[in-house]
Amino acid sequence: MKTSVAPTNDYCPQTLFLYGTYDDEGRADFGLFCWLSYVWDSELGVMACIGGEKLTKENIHKRKVFSANLVTEALLPLADYLGNTPGGSPEKAKLSIETEEGRVLPVPVLKASPVTYELEVKQFIPLDDGEVMLCRIRNVLQDERLALGAESSLEKLSAIAPVKTTCRRYFSWNGADLGAWGEPMANV
Ligand SMILES: Cc1cc2nc3c(=O)[nH]c(=O)nc-3n(C[C@H](O)[C@H](O)[C@H](O)COP(=O)(O)O)c2cc1C
Repeated sequence: MKTSVAPTNDYCPQTLFLYGTYDDEGRADFGLFCWLSYVWDSELGVMACIGGEKLTKENIHKRKVFSANLVTEALLPLADYLGNTPGGSPEKAKLSIETEEGRVLPVPVLKASPVTYELEVKQFIPLDDGEVMLCRIRNVLQDERLALGAESSLEKLSAIAPVKTTCRRYFSWNGADLGAWGEPMANV
C-alpha cells in the first residue's frame, strides 16, 4: 500500500557529477550536482538544472560550456566539500585539484574522475529560481580501462564505484551508507 507525501526525490537514487568551469581569471571552479539527466534530440544530450545563484551558473552563462565529471567513492570527500563550499570563497580557492584541459572544449577536466562529459549549452530555460540547461555532448572522456578493457560492465562499475545520493545521504555502488551530506568532507 502507498501513502501520499510532499514532493521529494527520497528513495530515488541519483548519480553525482562535479561540474567544472573557468571563472573570469581562468581559475577552475568545481561544484557538486545531481540534477543531471539525458535528452534525445537527433542525438544523445544532457539536461541539467541549477538552483539559485552560484559561481558555476555565472561561469556557464558567460562561456556556455562546462565539464561534468562522474563522482566515485575515491572522490567523495572532495566532492562533498565542493558541494558545501561556495565558489569564490577563500576555502575553495586554496584547494589544489588536479585538472587537465578538455579535448574538444575549453573546460577544466577532473583527472581523478573516470568519466567526463564536455558539454556545450544549446538552450537556457530560466525558471523562477532555477534554470534548466539543455546541452550538447561534445565529447565523452572515459578511462581506457572502461573504454577498452575486456572486463564486464559489472566489473568495471565495481572498480570505479560511482556514488549515488538520496535522502540527503550518499550510498556506494553496492548499497553501503557513505554518510550524510556534509559528513565525508571531514576527510578531505
Ligand atoms: C549532494 C549534493 C548535490 C547537489 N546537487 C545540486 C544540483 O543538482 N543543483 C544545484 O543547483 N546545486 C546542487 N548542489 C549545491 C552545489 O554543489 C553548491 O551550491 C556548490 O557551492 C556549487 O559550487 P559553486 O558555488 O562553486 O558554483 C548540491 C550539493 C550537494 C551536497
